[in-house]
Amino acid sequence: MKRKISASFLGSKKVAKVLVRLNLTDVDYIHVDVMDGKYVKYKTMPYTELCDITYYTRKRLDIHFMVRKPLKIIDDYATLNVEYMTFHLDIKNNLEDVFKKCHEYGIKIGLALNPKDEIEEVLPYLDKINLVLVMGVEPGKSGQEFIPETIQKVEELKKEIKKRNLKTLISVDGGVNLENSKDLKEADILVSGSTILNSDDYQNTITELRNSKLEKNSKKEKNT
Ligand code: DX5
Ligand code: ZN
Repeated sequence: MKRKISASFLGSKKVAKVLVRLNLTDVDYIHVDVMDGKYVKYKTMPYTELCDITYYTRKRLDIHFMVRKPLKIIDDYATLNVEYMTFHLDIKNNLEDVFKKCHEYGIKIGLALNPKDEIEEVLPYLDKINLVLVMGVEPGKSGQEFIPETIQKVEELKKEIKKRNLKTLISVDGGVNLENSKDLKEADILVSGSTILNSDDYQNTITELRNSKLEKNSKKEKNT
């Protein structure tokens, strides 16, 4: 499968402008970080604000809930153009209830692994979800440095998914750049905030992030 790119705008102060620019690219998803100020320190992207800004984009949304109790807000966000809703494992709601609600809306489900979470914690859910979001940084803000151990985590997770013949995708979020994206070759989706937003040419960066998977492989082939 061709790798997909999801653009995160958490680090942006001019969200509407950024979304208009992203609209002109072939980026696959817009990654929305919803934070409640409890699960993580900061608070952002309440539903009403998101309604206003999604007026500027027709891209599908990939919503990342960094909140303790997503159950009571899923109904609101489900009215938007959503492909994935991703939740953390250590939330205060029952995960089965959260899954049920997403299924009712036909929304695909993701579970996120924080840097401290072992992959074993997500294994029991692998056949019930569509995506594992492997965090490359501590959740909460964009522009942080990538934790290198994430690469191995992604590889181990992919092995398990293949072994069980599942279709569960792996997405990596936080600190992704043009270098580490080459090592994250098992990632089906890369979420990127600052790497895209700080570049002059969004499309070029998106294409590079997407193709970096191939680049590493073809380099290897050339060397052998
Ligand atoms: C971190 C967020 C990420 C972040 C990505 O908590 O979940 O989506 O915005 O931004 P970069 O790519 O700058 O780390
Ligand atoms: Zn995120």
